[in-house]
Amino acid sequence: MDNLDQLVVEAETAFAAALDGTQLEQVKARFLGKAGSLTERLKKLGALPAEERRMAGAEINRAKGAIEAALEARRAALRGARLQEQLAAEALDVTLPGRGTGNGGLHPVSRTQERVEALFRSIGFVVADGPEIETDWHNFTALNTPENHPARSMHDTFYLEGRDDVMLRTHTSPVQIRAMMEHVRHYAGEQTMADVRVIAPGRVYRVDSDATHSPMFHQVEGLWVGENVSFADLKGVVADFLRKFFESEDLRVRFRPSFFPFTEPSAEIDVAFMSGALEGSWLEIAGCGMVHPNVLRFGGIDPERYTGFAFGMGLDRLTMLRYGVNDLRLFFEGDLRFLSQFR
Ligand code: PHE
Repeated sequence: MDNLDQLVVEAETAFAAALDGTQLEQVKARFLGKAGSLTERLKKLGALPAEERRMAGAEINRAKGAIEAALEARRAALRGARLQEQLAAEALDVTLPGRGTGNGGLHPVSRTQERVEALFRSIGFVVADGPEIETDWHNFTALNTPENHPARSMHDTFYLEGRDDVMLRTHTSPVQIRAMMEHVRHYAGEQTMADVRVIAPGRVYRVDSDATHSPMFHQVEGLWVGENVSFADLKGVVADFLRKFFESEDLRVRFRPSFFPFTEPSAEIDVAFMSGALEGSWLEIAGCGMVHPNVLRFGGIDPERYTGFAFGMGLDRLTMLRYGVNDLRLFFEGDLRFLSQFR
């Protein structure tokens, strides 16, 4: 039965040559399948004399067992190899430093806004809010801005299609009107009322676009109305705020006569740093003035009894100066290389 041993060796060699499960199952058929070598031999047993038949049968079964064992061993080896391959391919190096998801951070303009809010809150102001789509009346008329004023032209302002009574607010000043009206409603029927002391930060819109102007930008409005509120209070509050905001005691603040329809007298506020890259040059930072009697009246407040001051400044401008950013557009491009520096 030498050729049976040879057959086992042949099978082992053929199994070993099979490189994957499919090949192995194909090779298996050659030895164990219906038309395989062993089956052929088993078929021929019947022709042998009874004595020889038993012996030969036992030999064939032994060979069959050996081939099956070899097959099973090869199957297991191929399975193991596949697993190793897969493990290698999906290997995780747990010692690598993590990629991290990166913590988000506040936008620099939001940081400025929070800082401004905190500083004004600390001297008793409350934060007020108003809509960005504002009525023509709140944005202009109630702010003493006449019908034919250039700021009202299509050219300077974003209007809404099909509506001529509303527009994107061009400044935060309409919140002055809203704040006064609400305050007056709150104190209706009372002999005296507490001072109006609000700041209103938010987005504003103008048809303007270059390195220092964006069609959307941010302002913060301030309003203080009460008995005996004077221009000296305005100067004190604003100068003190600016020194705290820029953390610079020697910051110089200058009030330069100007004009706004809603304040009288009016001024532009300039600052000059006494050190750093911008040292010595005057930079315009805000508009301000004593609230015009007409505006107080539109807000429901008696200008004979109460006076007030208002100011409006650009949050983006404050942010540029504080962090030394020279192009306003950087704030609105959403480039993480820029923004992540403020985390
Ligand atoms: N609203 C003015 C502007 O946008 C700024 C301002 C506010 C001036 C309040 C005076 C008082 O230019």
